[in-house]
Amino acid sequence: MSEQRTESGRRRTFAIVSHPDAGKTTLTEKLLLFGGAIQMAGSVKSRKAARHATSDWMALEKERGISVTSSVMQFPYAGRIVNLLDTPGHADFSEDTYRVLTAVDSALMVIDVAKGVEERTIKLMEVCRLRDTPIMSFINKLDREGREPIELLDEVESVLGIQCAPVTWPIGMGQRLKGVVHLVTGEVHLYEPGRNFTRQDSTIFPSLDDPGVEARIGAAMLSELRDELELVQGASHPFDKGEYLAGRQTPVFFGSAVSNFGVQPLLDFFVEHAPPPKSHATTSREVQPGEEAFSGFVFKIQANMDPQHRDRVAFLRVCSGHYEAGMKAFHVRTGKDAKLANALTFMASDREHVDKAWPGDVIGLHNHGTISIGDTFTAGESLAFTGIPNFAPELFRRARLRDPLKLKQLQKGLAQLSEEGATQFFRPLMSNDLILGAVGVLQFDVVAYRLRDEYGVDASFEPVQVATARWIRGGTEKKREEFREKNATNLALDAAGELVYLAPSRVNLQLTQERWPDFEFAATREHA
Ligand code: G4P
Repeated sequence: MSEQRTESGRRRTFAIVSHPDAGKTTLTEKLLLFGGAIQMAGSVKSRKAARHATSDWMALEKERGISVTSSVMQFPYAGRIVNLLDTPGHADFSEDTYRVLTAVDSALMVIDVAKGVEERTIKLMEVCRLRDTPIMSFINKLDREGREPIELLDEVESVLGIQCAPVTWPIGMGQRLKGVVHLVTGEVHLYEPGRNFTRQDSTIFPSLDDPGVEARIGAAMLSELRDELELVQGASHPFDKGEYLAGRQTPVFFGSAVSNFGVQPLLDFFVEHAPPPKSHATTSREVQPGEEAFSGFVFKIQANMDPQHRDRVAFLRVCSGHYEAGMKAFHVRTGKDAKLANALTFMASDREHVDKAWPGDVIGLHNHGTISIGDTFTAGESLAFTGIPNFAPELFRRARLRDPLKLKQLQKGLAQLSEEGATQFFRPLMSNDLILGAVGVLQFDVVAYRLRDEYGVDASFEPVQVATARWIRGGTEKKREEFREKNATNLALDAAGELVYLAPSRVNLQLTQERWPDFEFAATREHA
């Protein structure tokens, strides 16, 4: 097999999604530990803490209980290369999360055993469903009392509308937690608080019939477990790889991330069954990961990751070919060749330079404002990846500057921060206002904070009469001219210079749409 096929075939690129507090950070840390990416449990948390300490911005992040600083972590496991893309935790960041999910091949959903399916889990599930992303589920915190496992599976099936295939099943819970049974291999993994670090550390029996199991958990519990398993097997579905890959069935695991229990069966199963890099749709054709020519798209931009250096990093998912340090690539939107020197990878320990990156991998490109979310880079072919949208914001505010002399900095700050995609920046045709649109209200606080912290601009945001935004497409040159003239007071340009209708109310939008049937009023600006 060619190196291209071997390397792309062994990538497993995924994201963990969960409602805040379900245990995403803890599980990430344990997965990295098994992957040998970190020496000691606690590193992710302590790194998180160290970063918090270095920047006031991080202080805000912590205060609000949100994780804005997403990253990408790579580790080898069982002959595979696992790429774990972190997703922002707060509900306001759904758009960001959506875009991260365009860059993964599968997802892992963490559910708190006591809380079950929570509001954000539902939203994230909807997003995964839009793209038929295969999902595995981890029911966490088994070391605490929670809901009945069968009841939880029922809830996942009915609320999330996805079939459950339990792969492991808990033996007891909370104080009575004794282990899990692997329903596919038949193995019994015993829980030993303080251990269960690795497979070697755990006591594993080949089956429930092994006399060791009864000796450890007792006859009564064993008999109860057998009854329960009979019930489970009757009421649930066996694992079906085709259904999982189609996004219709989720394999379910039980465990306790904090005590490192049940994580290794999950990881073993994940690397065996999770999908390798898939093909990606573009404006002209489907790009296959086995193709030798390089291509990839930018799904996320992060400004000022290092406040000292004011750097902006564009995260690019490789879709075909491979990246090599110093190579040139064609930046399709600008039509220019760009030298992709010194790309970054985000290893668990620190940012490091990479030699090569293959489909499924993510590289970080230094960006000085020329790269936008959704941009495609290729080896020369003029194609653009599709499906990385910018949603119409639902909330709008006018930026008000305390010191009018800082207008330039304000414009620059708003433009740069909106490159990250969480907010959008509009300049009305008929006024000097600067209008910021966001999907969640918290964004305005975040932007005000960052403008002060990173750009030295004191700005506030005040209400403005805008209900929603629509990108204007289609129509003849003449019609567009007429449309611009008649609607100038409600028109603006977005950061990329595209024409946007800022509707003062939903009714107004409807009337305008009826009056101008030649135009499409698009609710998303698909980056192309
Ligand atoms: P998140 O990223 O999804 O928001 O969750 P995170 O991992 O930060 O976990 C949220 C809280 O739940 C943390 O407690 C964490 O220790 C705890 N937790 C995670 N996994 C388990 C588990 O398997 N069992 C139990 N009992 N607790 C778990 P915290 O008090 O907020 O933080 P910390 O003081 O423990 O660091």
